[in-house]
Amino acid sequence: MSRHRFHGDPSRFEALAGFIAERYGNRVRYIADVAGGQGMLARILTKRYNYVCEVVDTRGWVLRGVGNLQQEMDPSLASYYDLIVGLHPDQATRAAAEAALVRPAILVPCCNFWSDEKLGKEELLAAIEEFYRDRSVEYERVVLPFRGPHNVALVSEPPGNLAGRQGGAVVT
Ligand SMILES: C[S@@+](CC[C@H](N)C(=O)[O-])C[C@H]1O[C@@H](n2cnc3c(N)ncnc32)[C@H](O)[C@@H]1O
Repeated sequence: MSRHRFHGDPSRFEALAGFIAERYGNRVRYIADVAGGQGMLARILTKRYNYVCEVVDTRGWVLRGVGNLQQEMDPSLASYYDLIVGLHPDQATRAAAEAALVRPAILVPCCNFWSDEKLGKEELLAAIEEFYRDRSVEYERVVLPFRGPHNVALVSEPPGNLAGRQGGAVVT
């Protein structure tokens, strides 16, 4: 099998990159693509939208030209970036949510690596939202324009950071 095959809807990378550019514009520059896998999202953000984006992933193999930090996502890394993005971040889901306590973040959960109990899509989203509410993270749900079911983003701002926020999202 080719290493360039991506599971899930391949348009998710374009869709999320476009959302980031529209939503944040030049308010952010350094972006972490948490659990970014081969780095397709990071590549688009870098080449098309001129962000400085690197993958933080244990896998350690990315597309040519993509910045790569091969390690487990650690929330203490968050302050090195302006924006934390976790697109289907699997085991890094909780670390990405913890990073959202200190930086703007976009978390698009997929499989439940949040808790030991079995959680469906809606329950997983609700559990992360509860985590955010308990910590005064402001968030909204945004349905991204790619094939679901795992196309719902939790777009958040850390406590006290709402001043710089821009609107324009499609909210469920
Ligand atoms: C479902 S893939 C998603 C990859 C990519 N974001 C996408 O949408 O195609 C999950 C990724 O999480 C990475 N991963 C698993 N545990 C991790 C951790 N603790 N920290 C960072 N990355 C991790 C895996 O190596 C894998 O690349």
